[in-house]
Amino acid sequence: MEVVIAPAGELARLAADAVEGLLRAKPERVLGLATGSSPLAVYDELARRHQEGLSFARARAFMLDEYVGLAADHPERYRNVIEREFASRVDFAPGAVQGPDGLAQDLPAACAAYEASIAEAGGVDLQLLGIGTDGHIAFNEPGSSLASRTRIKTLTKQTREDNARFFGGSVEQVPRHCLTQGLATIMSARHLVLLASGRAKAEAVHQLVEGPVSAMWPATIMQLHPHATVLVDDAAASRL
Ligand code: GLP
Repeated sequence: MEVVIAPAGELARLAADAVEGLLRAKPERVLGLATGSSPLAVYDELARRHQEGLSFARARAFMLDEYVGLAADHPERYRNVIEREFASRVDFAPGAVQGPDGLAQDLPAACAAYEASIAEAGGVDLQLLGIGTDGHIAFNEPGSSLASRTRIKTLTKQTREDNARFFGGSVEQVPRHCLTQGLATIMSARHLVLLASGRAKAEAVHQLVEGPVSAMWPATIMQLHPHATVLVDDAAASRL
């Protein structure tokens, strides 16, 4: 695992460099997109590079996770967040960005279909990731099976409290369930790029880099990945 400690703005540029390098070598790449605040600066940087000619027209993208039951037009539905923060600012082809369907009648079937779509696309070339304060990646909360694939999960109290800021500060407004790629799904991506900044992430980053591999700190599975890059600022690295 490669760990880079740099100022937040530099981290976003490094992640964007990795995405741009892939797309310049072969435009038909498959990107893995994360939500949360951590990747936002990367999306800003990629949108800026798009203005300078970087094209996503032949790329595809798969999202990590989605809340269950948020209305199709809810601003915090992850599909809408990704559209607003990134996809609408570059030139993805219609339908090129996919996410798990949190409004499906049959949620287990939607999870299986999502896994099949990723496989049919040839797998994810580069997966962007954030990390929760409890060490979750995507919505794989502590205790998630290290062999898990896309499935329904119950959000922890901690995660609902962390994410309440996106729902007017009200934990009650945060959905209780989600669909998320599993840890094994994420580990199938060919390059993992995780971003973390701020002191609130210091313990999770410490466990990720220096802790034993454990389902209680789900991000630690990244230690077993052959190509994982961890991009952190000084505050997030303060317990390393
Ligand atoms: C949510 C997302 C995760 C993200 C995490 C951290 O729980 N499902 O993918 O990594 O938040 O978010 P932030 O980057 O805002 O701290």
